[in-house]
Amino acid sequence: MHALITGGAGFIGSHLAESLLADGGAVTVIDDLSTGRLTNLADAQKHSSFQFVRGTVRDESAVRPLVERADVVYHLAAAVGVRRIVEAPVETMETNIQGTGVILAAANRFRRPVFLASTSEVYGRNTAVPFREDADMIFGSVGYNRWSYACSKVIDEFLGLAYHQETQLPVVVGRLFNVIGPRQTGAYGMVVPNFVRSALRNEPLRIHGDGRQTRCFCHVRDIIQAIQPLPLNPRAAGEVFNIGATEEISINALADAILELTDSRSAKEYVSYEEAFGRPLEDMMRRRPDTAKLHALTGWSPQIPLRDALRDVVEFMRAEMNESE
Ligand SMILES: NC(=O)c1ccc[n+]([C@@H]2O[C@H](COP(=O)([O-])OP(=O)(O)OC[C@H]3O[C@@H](n4cnc5c(N)ncnc54)[C@H](O)[C@@H]3O)[C@@H](O)[C@H]2O)c1
Repeated sequence: MHALITGGAGFIGSHLAESLLADGGAVTVIDDLSTGRLTNLADAQKHSSFQFVRGTVRDESAVRPLVERADVVYHLAAAVGVRRIVEAPVETMETNIQGTGVILAAANRFRRPVFLASTSEVYGRNTAVPFREDADMIFGSVGYNRWSYACSKVIDEFLGLAYHQETQLPVVVGRLFNVIGPRQTGAYGMVVPNFVRSALRNEPLRIHGDGRQTRCFCHVRDIIQAIQPLPLNPRAAGEVFNIGATEEISINALADAILELTDSRSAKEYVSYEEAFGRPLEDMMRRRPDTAKLHALTGWSPQIPLRDALRDVVEFMRAEMNESE
């Protein structure tokens, strides 16, 4: 089985590459290294059945032969992270919309099954937690470009499902909720790596808003267990699945847990969204998935408790910081 992973030098993609290789598969990664890093693929590069291609998913001539050679496509390449989306809205939309268009057209031409990585952001302002896959998507006005990420992913979903509807291309959409684990970088506004880095440096943990907003964080290893078999499951084709943990934690409690795990002297510091992002940003108070649909189809549910996941992040970042000193 030969898999093509777009965005495979990123946080989730590099774990997926390792898992597929460990199962005896061949893997090709295409990544433009905009947020990904080659060091994430250090272990994957040790396999003779691994290939890395530096390139963009927007480049049809680069993508086509890679899709043709693959048996399955995992499309993870995207402009990710709240900070990046607010700062580079054109790039976000072009990568996420045009890139996905190129991938789906190539997959359709060679009839390859596709996993499309979407996001819990598509539920937008909906407050009816836990979110079921058929819940409404509710967005704010175009005056707030934070919605451009969610809308670009919604277009990806519609396009993927349209290919399935019109041509029976096996496309499956996974809406990922907050994923954490080793290799996630805090550079683009991700909360857990940012808190851990600050805690390890005994610097203040900057909490956006009042910290009462809750999230569900899932270990990347659990996420991979869900993603890897999905595009090959005929009953998943043309379907959308939430993928994430259901244990909710407030950002305040998250900060406390990280302070305790790192034995840190850091204080919690509250900053407004305007201060943090240079403009007001609408945040969601709760974002919890209903994962019954995926569980019913595959039996999947996350196995790694949040504390263990946080411990893994702390260990990884401690080692990384020691190396760079
Ligand atoms: N991490 C999360 O909590 C989370 C939550 C919801 C959805 N997702 C989705 O999962 C996927 C992977 O996210 P991640 O957390 O691993 O982020 P990441 O930034 O680590 O990975 C994205 C990868 O895509 C690459 N990339 C970006 N634009 C590209 C382009 N035009 N061509 C080729 N490669 C390109 C980046 O260099 C990076 O390696 C994304 O589609 C993201 O939207 C992630």
